[in-house]
Amino acid sequence: MALYATAASVLANVESRRGSIKGLVYASSFQNVKQLYALVCETQRYSAVLDAVIASAGLLRAEKKLRPHLAKVLVYELLLGRGFRGGGGRWKPLLDRHQARLKAELARLKVQRRVSRNEDLLQVGSRPGAASQVPRFVRVNTLKTSSDDAIDYFKRQGFSYQGRASSLEDLRALKGKCFLLDPLLPELLVFPTQTDLHDHPLYQAGHLILQDKASCLPAMLLAPPPGSHVIDACAAPGNKTSHLAAFLKNQGRIFAFDLDAGRLASMATLLARAGVSCCELAQEDFLAVSPSDQRYRQVQYILLDPSCSGSGMPTRQLEEPGTGTPSKARLQALAGFQQRALRHALTFPSLQRLVYSTCSLCQEENEDVVQDALQQNPGTFRLAPVLPSWPHRGLSSFPGAEHCLRASPETTLTGGFFVAVLERVEVPSSVPQAEASAPEISLSAAPRKKRRPRRTVAPRTLPPTEQEGKR
Ligand SMILES: C[S@@+](CC[C@H](N)C(=O)[O-])C[C@H]1O[C@@H](n2cnc3c(N)ncnc32)[C@H](O)[C@@H]1O
Repeated sequence: MALYATAASVLANVESRRGSIKGLVYASSFQNVKQLYALVCETQRYSAVLDAVIASAGLLRAEKKLRPHLAKVLVYELLLGRGFRGGGGRWKPLLDRHQARLKAELARLKVQRRVSRNEDLLQVGSRPGAASQVPRFVRVNTLKTSSDDAIDYFKRQGFSYQGRASSLEDLRALKGKCFLLDPLLPELLVFPTQTDLHDHPLYQAGHLILQDKASCLPAMLLAPPPGSHVIDACAAPGNKTSHLAAFLKNQGRIFAFDLDAGRLASMATLLARAGVSCCELAQEDFLAVSPSDQRYRQVQYILLDPSCSGSGMPTRQLEEPGTGTPSKARLQALAGFQQRALRHALTFPSLQRLVYSTCSLCQEENEDVVQDALQQNPGTFRLAPVLPSWPHRGLSSFPGAEHCLRASPETTLTGGFFVAVLERVEVPSSVPQAEASAPEISLSAAPRKKRRPRRTVAPRTLPPTEQEGKR
């Protein structure tokens, strides 16, 4: 295999923790071991910078056949390495076409980060630095107010509204008391990084939810229509549940499960404050929720946002910079649960659409979990091709993984995140459509056979917790 293809394959395996660089380089049977080793090490060292440049230049969108790891190696060689000394083969003309744009994006990154040398990007481009540039995203809770009213309120308080952003650059440039509407999400306001709205009256009254943009993607991509029945499988502390309720306009039903009593208590507070009235909370293991229970016969939408390593959370990276790499044992345990939960979710008989999300950067918790579920359900579920213009896609670990979305401070100005949308290939014949889509507004508790108490959301007086603002 040629140098660049071999380097890309070693890099992919290193990122998937299938071995050390050294071991994989020796196992590759590539003759010039030293050259291959140096190229992989350097590409990996600049990985975050390369991700940012490749994303902002739109390289993978323009060149669909170019796989992300190979793109990284080639762009490293073009911009930071030795400029295709080995010839570059068939990839050189392709990279030549994008050379000017890639160079311009690298230059822009240096201007933005106020550095002049490529090496200096390594310090300021490392995760904590990039994480500290993520703006403050604020979701307008449409159960209580509208974007226009929230914008007017901020204007009256002396904030300067700059309109809808047209690119991530507009978000990066935000300063002082300026704010914008996000270019993608219609109800998302964007403020400069340092803005703290925890004491703001609109937040206290539940009109605003402090929620990172990436964490708004799951509900937005599930988009259950009013009247539908939805399961939020691992729901606390409930930011995504309240977003789902906004899509439902409080019409229909959300069955929200979580194991953790403390987090459920915070969630009850959050949902009450957000004006959510269509949600039933249950302290229950989602794996023990029976898909054949009649209560869930109309559930066509499931949001599965399970416990994960949290390796993509900017707050965690800022506070504990080493935490991006969970141990192998922890990853295995988490991935095992995530796999079981996703397989289980796909057995709900009326399910049409499911969103799987994590705030992890690890392939084991993301693409691998989705691939396993698709392999378990051949021909029944497929990945929906969502948000084609989103710049950061799933790692190409299986065919179609590019339909998954990734997010990071470097590429999307958000926390690190992963989202996959699975949709049923065929409508199950056992569910009469009229019944499945009939609006269901009643909240009366259905007869229940099981264990732990279930409750509908009631106002509480507990103060908001830290977690509410985080995801
Ligand atoms: C990533 S958090 C969910 C965040 C939430 N979706 C939100 O947006 O606010 C994962 C949650 O899964 C819960 N969990 C873990 N194992 C579970 C299980 N077997 N069944 C239900 N919930 C579980 C945890 O207690 C935790 O609250």
